[in-house]
Amino acid sequence: MQDSRNPVINIDSEKFKELGHQLIDQIGDFLAGINSRAVTTGESPAVLKARLGDRSLPESGESPDKILAEARELLFNHSLLNGHPKFFGYITSSPAPLGALADLLAAIVNPNVGANILSPMATQIERQTIRWLAELIGVDISYGGILVSGGNMANFTAYLTACKVKGMRSQNGTDSQERAFTVYCPKTTHTWIEKAVVCFGPGAEALRWIDVNASNQIDTQMLEQTIREDISKNRKPMMVIGTAGDVSTGAVDDLKVIASICKKYALWFHVDGAYGMPAAAVSSHSHLFEGIREADSIAIDPHKWLYSPLEAGCVLVKDPNHLTETFSSHPVYYNFNIEDGPAGINYYEYGLQNSRGFRALKVWTSLQHLGRSGYEKLIGEDIRLSQQMFSLADKHPELEAVSQNLSITTFRYVGPVPDGRKMNDEELNHLNEKLLNLIQQKGEAFLSNAVIKAKFCLRACIVNFRTTEKDIQEVIHIVVREGRELLKIISA
Ligand SMILES: Cc1ncc(COP(=O)(O)O)c(C=O)c1O
Repeated sequence: MQDSRNPVINIDSEKFKELGHQLIDQIGDFLAGINSRAVTTGESPAVLKARLGDRSLPESGESPDKILAEARELLFNHSLLNGHPKFFGYITSSPAPLGALADLLAAIVNPNVGANILSPMATQIERQTIRWLAELIGVDISYGGILVSGGNMANFTAYLTACKVKGMRSQNGTDSQERAFTVYCPKTTHTWIEKAVVCFGPGAEALRWIDVNASNQIDTQMLEQTIREDISKNRKPMMVIGTAGDVSTGAVDDLKVIASICKKYALWFHVDGAYGMPAAAVSSHSHLFEGIREADSIAIDPHKWLYSPLEAGCVLVKDPNHLTETFSSHPVYYNFNIEDGPAGINYYEYGLQNSRGFRALKVWTSLQHLGRSGYEKLIGEDIRLSQQMFSLADKHPELEAVSQNLSITTFRYVGPVPDGRKMNDEELNHLNEKLLNLIQQKGEAFLSNAVIKAKFCLRACIVNFRTTEKDIQEVIHIVVREGRELLKIISA
């Protein structure tokens, strides 16, 4: 009788160690030299496709040594490196090296954190991670939640919960009154909300985009007035979304006032803190988040400002029973709940996923590695560097500093053109868009953009523990140097 299959897929223990040691050594070297690489190679998709080769599925197998060598070469030499000290685009952090090791460990044990019985210790670690995240941002530890893939999923999970709790979703799905429900959010809200109302109901017409004030915060008077108008028209206001660090400028809404409006009209109060929420742990900035303890739900992304490798998002809910009321189901073949006791969480009942990976481990390891004070220091430094960038842009005669909140600075290149003439806004928008593309293409630094009051701005978001003051000075230098060059070409 056969007692061993010896399958090719099962690399034996000695070979596994050899491959692993080699790979870790190479990763160590890659990390040690990351500063001297380009942020991105700027290669076109066509070039990359050609580099990869337009092969059909291989018929037979290849050696792991060769495959890993190729994968390493492709990724190290042809990727955009968000771990580079001059990567400031969108909101993707430098990933914590310990988090990467945690991901490897999680993949090897491979617990399915959908059910307690399938992931006994991983479930407890996820539970502790959720509690620590609540402590980090200063809400009560009775908040419960779940780790998800990122900000969109965290916000969707909260949104669906609000729909259920506020009666837009009946036990069996939609409500016949669904179209009467309304949702309120500042104009700065991330695009997830549009997907949510369209994909989950009640539809795009239900969304009330509320204007923002000069500081890019929701106009709370306008918010209350709009809610009242809807009530007078027999609409059913359901939820208000406050943003704690808007994606373009980092502005934090007045959460305290939103909380009191939500209380007055019995509305669900959701805070999208996917980016900015960790700054509540920084004592100089915690006042910005006053009111957060009233939130019914909060999105916070460890893969943004807690430096977890992708993917890690999290939703926290004031009454965790609301999650199970929304997502729980009990198919007959799930023999999960028996004798698990109150600590035996089945996470499939807390969100949309069924089988779930062990995302919590990389977050849990970093929370312990840094501790609360370590995060306060790192996040505080990112904020300080962003303020420095704003101040350098503000002092430079060829730059216009536009905004600075949390760790996001926006600014633009303003010339002058070689003949000394000042450009109008249309010309400046055109110039800065070209400038951004050029800088991204060249790969010395990576910025993204924000459009603020019709101005096309360069935008730097620092969620990067490798960035130093020198990098900030160099980025300003790069922008000015490239801006001048571009102007010369345009004006020639
Ligand atoms: C405020 C905010 N909400 C939600 C998201 C979406 O997050 P993700 O890209 O992780 O889905 C982002 C992304 O930048 C964001 O800044």
